[in-house]
Amino acid sequence: MNNDVLYWSAGVPFRIDNNKVIAGALKFSYGSELFPELYYLTVNGISKNDLIGHFKGNKKAAALIRELISARVLIKGVPRLNEMFYGLSPYTATLRDEELYLDPDKLEAAKNKIVNRNICGDLQTVPVRMEDTQIPDHLRSHCSTRSFDADKKIGFDELSAFLAVFRDNKFRKNARFYPSAGGLYPIDIYLCIKEKRVDKLEKGMYYYCPVNNSLYKLSDCIIEESFHYPTNREIYSSSAVSVLMVYNSGCNMPKYSYKGYAYALLDCGIMTELLYTEVSRLGAGCCSIGDMDFGKVEEMLGLPPESVMLHTIEIGPK
Ligand SMILES: Cc1cc2nc3c(=O)[nH]c(=O)nc-3n(C[C@H](O)[C@H](O)[C@H](O)COP(=O)(O)O)c2cc1C
Repeated sequence: MNNDVLYWSAGVPFRIDNNKVIAGALKFSYGSELFPELYYLTVNGISKNDLIGHFKGNKKAAALIRELISARVLIKGVPRLNEMFYGLSPYTATLRDEELYLDPDKLEAAKNKIVNRNICGDLQTVPVRMEDTQIPDHLRSHCSTRSFDADKKIGFDELSAFLAVFRDNKFRKNARFYPSAGGLYPIDIYLCIKEKRVDKLEKGMYYYCPVNNSLYKLSDCIIEESFHYPTNREIYSSSAVSVLMVYNSGCNMPKYSYKGYAYALLDCGIMTELLYTEVSRLGAGCCSIGDMDFGKVEEMLGLPPESVMLHTIEIGPK
């Protein structure tokens, strides 16, 4: 729609270098004369009609605007998670160690050092030793599962039990079983159910409504394996269900503005752990997947511009 308000995506910096426009990871060899005007026009939002009208008759401007829209530099709603933090990339480029990720021994050694760090290890004080408390069984058995038993199904009762951790808490008004900033619960839950992998349920995409504890079927399609990174495809190919966590920014941004995004990430982490704990307690397996082609999933789900995918958890029988 031409009256949609377009914004310069918050995490995308721009600069002009040798007459080229550099917007995030993209380089355009034309249109540098349109900057910084195009940036200033869009940073606080402008309708597409007004933007095109501003550069009326300028074909280069119209072409660049189209390209910036399709590259999601100009967006209608909230930025996707990766896009939010893109502006950090000049800093992270100084930290990134490509070799580390190509050499498994080097990575293992680095991981060992990171995981076993003690940032107060050099202090001369004697630490207060805590009691050696017994860890409950369901936490002791915590471990992400990356290969599921593809010949087994998840029972309908089991799936109901997993999802129950996200349902409304009928013993308290407008509350659920986990904390959420402002009690606004901005994470929507969708499921991708594989063919013949969950009792009673046909394959397809579903929305889980926590208020009436029900699933609404949205389509017969399921996520394609190719949407996942190659390293994650085996996990997806054997799982029975994918739990998709979507940030619905309309729920908490009216109260928290941009901070709503950060709070939603915290909510999402809390919900992930809650689901992990319940799945593990009931003897199934699960694995968090932090990234995939979320844009394609958003399209499949028909999400509005104020909703973005944040996270996925693959679940299946061990
Ligand atoms: C935000 C996040 C993203 C993750 N993404 C992936 C992933 O893409 N692929 C994968 O195999 N595991 C992924 N994991 C699982 C971690 O690799 C795993 O939790 C970690 O190695 C610790 O192992 P454990 O869960 O078995 O204790 C992710 C976990 C989190 C919290």
